[in-house]
Parts: sequence; C-alpha cells; structure tokens
Amino acid sequence: MGSRIIGTGRSVPATALSNQDLERQLETSDEWIRSRTGISSRYLLRTGESLLDIALEASSRALDKAGLKAGDLDAIVAGTVSSEYAFPSFACQVQRKLGVTSIPAFDVAAACSGFVFALSVADYSMRAGAWRKVLVIGADALSTMVDWGDRRTAVLFGDGAGAAVMLHEPGPRGVLDTLLRSAGEAWEMLSLRATGIRASADSELRRDPVDTLKMKGPELFKIAVKSMADITRQVVERAGFTLGDVKVIVPHQANIRILNAVAERLGIPSEKVFINLDRYGNTSAASVPIALDEAWEAGRFGDNDLVLLNACGGGLTWGASLLRW
Ligand code: ACO
Repeated sequence: MGSRIIGTGRSVPATALSNQDLERQLETSDEWIRSRTGISSRYLLRTGESLLDIALEASSRALDKAGLKAGDLDAIVAGTVSSEYAFPSFACQVQRKLGVTSIPAFDVAAACSGFVFALSVADYSMRAGAWRKVLVIGADALSTMVDWGDRRTAVLFGDGAGAAVMLHEPGPRGVLDTLLRSAGEAWEMLSLRATGIRASADSELRRDPVDTLKMKGPELFKIAVKSMADITRQVVERAGFTLGDVKVIVPHQANIRILNAVAERLGIPSEKVFINLDRYGNTSAASVPIALDEAWEAGRFGDNDLVLLNACGGGLTWGASLLRW
C-alpha cells in the first residue's frame, strides 16, 4: 500500500521581474545572469501580496484537479522556510483559509528540499496507515529575505507555491521509493536567520544585512551537483530500475549549469530533465511542485511512467523520490 499524487497545482505572484529590470537596480547584466544561471525572469511578491494567498491558490487548484474538496483531507504538510509566523505553522494558516478543522497540519523545514521532504513524510505516514488523503505544499518567498544590494544572491530567487494531493491506495502506481539526506555540518553554505522583517523588492523596508540570505555560491554549486546526482542514482537503483527506465527528471530549479552537470554525471540526455527556471528562478521549496505541475500539463509524462523528483538546499538537505505516475 503506497501513495499516489492525484492532483497538482501552482501559483506565482502577479509581477514578473526580468533580468533587464534587475540591470536597472544592480550592477549586473542579462548576459551574466542567463549564462551563469539560465534565469531570464522571476515572479516576486509585491507589498501587500502574501505567500499564503498564493499557496492557497496552488492548493485549491491541486484539490480541483484531484476532484476532492478540502474537507476530504486527512492532513496538510507544508515545506516552507518563508512563513510570516514562527507559529501557527504555514500549514495551519492554509488549513484555516481552506476552512477545514481538526486534521493535523504542520511544516517541514528543509529549504529548497522542502517539498521532497514533505512528500516523503506524507508518503510514509500513509504507508503506516495514518492518513488516506494528504495535501502537500511547497511554498517560499526568498525574494523578501535577500539583500537587494547583493548581486550574487538577489538575482537568483523567485517566489511561488506548488501543491500536490496524495491518495493512499493499493497497486503498483505512486511513490516507489524516497531517499533523504542532511549534512548539518555544512549549514554555513546557505543560511538565513529566522528573525527579521519580510521586505519585498518594491518595499522601502529592508532587512538588517545580518538577517539576509547568506550563500557560498561556488562551493554550494559543487556539492549540489554531486549530492543530486548521487541520490538520484541511489534511489533509482534501490527501487530496482536503471536511469534509462526513467521518463523524466523533475529537479529543483536552482541553476541550469547545476542541472546540466547533474545530467552529465548521470550520463543522461539533458532533454530528460524538465527545466522551467528561465521563467521562475529558484523558488526554493516551490520549485519541484511548480515544475511537476507544468511538466504534467505539458504531457512530459503520463500514466505508469517513472518520474524522478530531486532537490538540494539549505541545511544542507537533499533528497530524491521515484514515482510511478
Ligand atoms: N552580475 C554580474 N556579476 C556577478 C553577479 C551578477 N549577478 N554575481 C556575481 N558576479 C561576479 C562576481 O562578483 C565575480 O566577479 P569577480 O571575479 O570580479 O570577483 C564573478 O561574477 C564570478 O563570481 P562567482 O561567484 O565565482 O560566479 P559563479 O560562476 O560561481 O556563479 C552562482 C555564481 C550563479 C551563484 C553559482 O555559484 C551558483 O549557482 N551556485 C549555486 C548556488 C545556488 O544555486 N544556490 C541556491 C540555493 S542551493 C540550491 O538550490 C541547490
């Protein structure tokens, strides 16, 4: 008895910021950003907009696609590091907006790996018989927490939310296997103090510089390539398949050069990797579910295909999940 994704949804803020827009506020260029990261544009929360509303929209779309109502859910698990509140959890805030009561709702903090970790928590709980229908969310708004004067980080991130509805059911389809890893000793590679205001790019407000996102980009690049490639190979082999059996890889969208290097290390054609980071940037925990929703919509995989999700992020954390769709 496993669990299967039966509906997905995505939502992003209304405003897109292009590399050309960024050229006007930072010492950077469209050419540098595209060639070093693959990003052309990203959606950013504006003053007055809330990540919660976006997550609610993504969740409602996933529920509609699954043909379920919020009242059918047995649990809500949210991967996020961007909640406005330390508590109630982001998942509890979504629960309230969805108008459901009593069911467990909680967050999983694994930064960019948040959705893969949350999916795994939901899957294992369903295998244990705890729940039958679960809403899993990945949502982040790191644009409100970067230093808008730091060109090395400000150009990388976008905001958004993605969601998946999972159903506990017998049969060969659904999550086949998941592997999760963390390396707390490498926490300084990518960190963000929990304190501080949310300051969207268009706001007069600014976070104290010590409270903004800190990243050791070049070191992180190498770790991301190795960890995402290794865990992808391991989860596929543990499930008894080869990479050739996988129809599509839906990875965390951090950097096109990371994704190309992972594909090269795995010896797979880059066409097997779904890419949408050119339009979204790195949306942290939202990137895998947004990409999954788009890839499904675009017909990149269908019933019974093997779909591989992988991610790497702050913690450090990384993980991969193999699904039979
Ligand atoms: N515009 C113009 N120039 C820039 C910019 C910018 N936006 N940012 C940095 N530069 C300059 C630097 O100042 C440096 O100039 P210098 O040589 O005169 O000092 C030069 O470009 C090279 O800088 P590097 O940091 O060495 O550039 P690199 O090729 O490593 O690319 C990047 C930087 C894109 C951040 C890369 O290291 C990376 O993607 N790392 C992974 C980080 C990541 O994806 N983090 C997200 C979270 S973790 C995850 O999701 C997996």
